[in-house]
Amino acid sequence: MKYMDHAGNPFASLSPTVWRGSTVVFDTFEDFVSRKERQPDGYSYGITGTPTARGLERRIADLEGAKHCVLMPSGASALITTVMAFVRAGDHLLISESCYGSLKTFSRQWLANMGVDVEFYPPTIDAEIEALIRPNTKMICMEAPGTVTMEMQDIAAITEIAKRHGVLTMLDNTWASPLFFRGIEHGVDFVVQAATKYFSGHSDVLMGSVSLDNFELYGVLREAQSIFGQAVSPDDCFLVERGLQTYALRLKEQGQKALRIARWLETVPEVKEVLYPPLESHPGHEIWKKHFKGPGCLFSFVLQAPPSEEQFGVFFNALKEFPIGASWGGTHSLIAYYPASQQATRRFSPTDQSIIRVSIGLEDEEILREDLQQALAAYSRILY
Ligand SMILES: Cc1ncc(COP(=O)(O)O)c(C=O)c1O
Repeated sequence: MKYMDHAGNPFASLSPTVWRGSTVVFDTFEDFVSRKERQPDGYSYGITGTPTARGLERRIADLEGAKHCVLMPSGASALITTVMAFVRAGDHLLISESCYGSLKTFSRQWLANMGVDVEFYPPTIDAEIEALIRPNTKMICMEAPGTVTMEMQDIAAITEIAKRHGVLTMLDNTWASPLFFRGIEHGVDFVVQAATKYFSGHSDVLMGSVSLDNFELYGVLREAQSIFGQAVSPDDCFLVERGLQTYALRLKEQGQKALRIARWLETVPEVKEVLYPPLESHPGHEIWKKHFKGPGCLFSFVLQAPPSEEQFGVFFNALKEFPIGASWGGTHSLIAYYPASQQATRRFSPTDQSIIRVSIGLEDEEILREDLQQALAAYSRILY
């Protein structure tokens, strides 16, 4: 970014400028009075961001093939603020049972109590969603593959139907990211990323983005971001910009490694099932192959059930290379546990068993495989 210092000396660097500012100052009275007219792109107060945020928004919009982007302080806030910006009492909201947990909890515990008719739909419904659309359906919330359970959805089929009925669509596209699936090209109105995952990539930032084409919707979303005080820190924007320099390389490498490890796990006797659409055995594989360009680094699997639930701990506690944690998409591998009781609370689930979810990082593949192998061997001793 080019810059002139106070003495007129030019300066340029390869790093974006980190502009901090809780407020924006104006040269004249007239500039101040007309400051709101600069929305949704311009600057009027620190909450909607400084040029640091605008630079990152432009970069993400370009990656998504979108005209606009609004940053939010987390993936969760990106999802929830988008719904809040457009859905009102009396509206009907269709939300996939496989959507991210806090979006579902927000819909169930807040929106439903505020007069929104919230309906969870089976993640594999595809074109049959048309039968669920009502005159007051406002938005469809999708995620593919689904959080934890990994069901695929035919996004193009759903958006085609939604458009015909004048219904807005939002897609949590974090797993594939624009490298492997461009939601805007498939007709999605709001494409959300938890930039916390691949974009930042180093497990040290929370951020979300919403990319979209329609200028009018962009204005409404920017206003919601500002009114709800969903500000992002310019230092965090800098870290995400830095993460983006290696994002494509990381994701390609981590995805291929995840695919090889998932294929291997399918052959292990202690593993009952691997939930991962890039595998030919997955029920959503054909949809994945048709629309997606590559495998994400996150997959789930189900072990042969132990005599009692606590004995899953034998497997987890034997792991040396996989920290136990609920996030994913970073350079470090992670593993997480979702008990059978959680599947029982879902209306639609591909399994009633406990699920183990793995995010494959940049570590040596053999070391990761050997670690899983020895933990599975320890687990095997309680099974047989
Ligand atoms: C698919 C998906 N969407 C959204 C989120 C929320 O992102 P954040 O942690 O930035 O709120 C997560 C977090 O785990 C996620 O897995």
